[in-house]
Amino acid sequence: MKIKTFLVATALAASFAGSAFAAGMTVGFSQIGSESGWRAAETSVTKQEAEKRGVDLKIADAQQKQENQLKAIRSFVAQGVDAIFLAPVVATGWDDVLEEAKDADIPVILLDRTIDTADDSLYLTAVTSDTVHEGRVAGEWLVNAVGDKPCNVVELQGTVGSSPAINRKKGFDEAIAGHDNLKIVRTQTGDFTRTKGKEVMESFLKAEDGGKNICALYAHNDDMAVGAIQAIKEAGLKPGTDILVVSIDAVPDIFKAIADGEANATVELTPNMAGPAFDALAAFKDAGTVPPKWIQTESKLYTKDNDPSGEYERRKGLGY
Ligand code: AHR
Repeated sequence: MKIKTFLVATALAASFAGSAFAAGMTVGFSQIGSESGWRAAETSVTKQEAEKRGVDLKIADAQQKQENQLKAIRSFVAQGVDAIFLAPVVATGWDDVLEEAKDADIPVILLDRTIDTADDSLYLTAVTSDTVHEGRVAGEWLVNAVGDKPCNVVELQGTVGSSPAINRKKGFDEAIAGHDNLKIVRTQTGDFTRTKGKEVMESFLKAEDGGKNICALYAHNDDMAVGAIQAIKEAGLKPGTDILVVSIDAVPDIFKAIADGEANATVELTPNMAGPAFDALAAFKDAGTVPPKWIQTESKLYTKDNDPSGEYERRKGLGY
């Protein structure tokens, strides 16, 4: 996104914040599931934001399955909800169901993940971070941290086919391109979960001489990093020192790990996608204001220099 577009989007998002919301509105939210601490926080923040505005929020938990999301959207359309929020588990395969919502005049807002479609009239707006940028920030941090030292990197990818997994890989690859001392030696999905992050890291460690050949771990989310940290410790190595750890989300547990010297950096993803989404929807319903196609949330890098213990305390009660 160009800087100018970002500024316009930010200004519009700010102006929506003051608009009156049609209380009594019903919004159906097709949520992916509860794969990560970040996801749990997004669900609870969405409930809080709905309650503040007097919105009747109906949440359908898809348990990581696109087919469940398709069913949920069709059921929301049949119920005649006023709007649908969709956090799409994967990027492809949404056109038909979104056509049905459009034909029923029900606006759809994408939350935290994007979709691949040739027809962007199928959704009103997408409230997401720049996930390519997040990967780039993580990669740039690592480039600076290792300097000229040779560094074998292992990568834990998010859910296959999801927009953050695709984009966070792309951004990281871009950031390390041209730094020939940095090489991704193993990459595999850990599906954004702690359990799989640990499992896959165990296999990376085994394959790379008990971890001696690994200099850094890049995980597409903090939960996989936290699982991997456990695997690194069980292999007798020191995460954060023997193997550098950089990931994305900024959940409380990664701040604990950073404070303990067991992780090195994280890129923040706000769990509050719903606030800007409700505000955009209110302005659209109340005054016909069409929001920008992308309402971008901020992505900030945190390291040991950003008061990780304080960040842990500030976030621990937020539903993560
Ligand atoms: O779409 C956002 C990603 O989904 C978060 O980074 C990850 O933790 C979650 O599962």
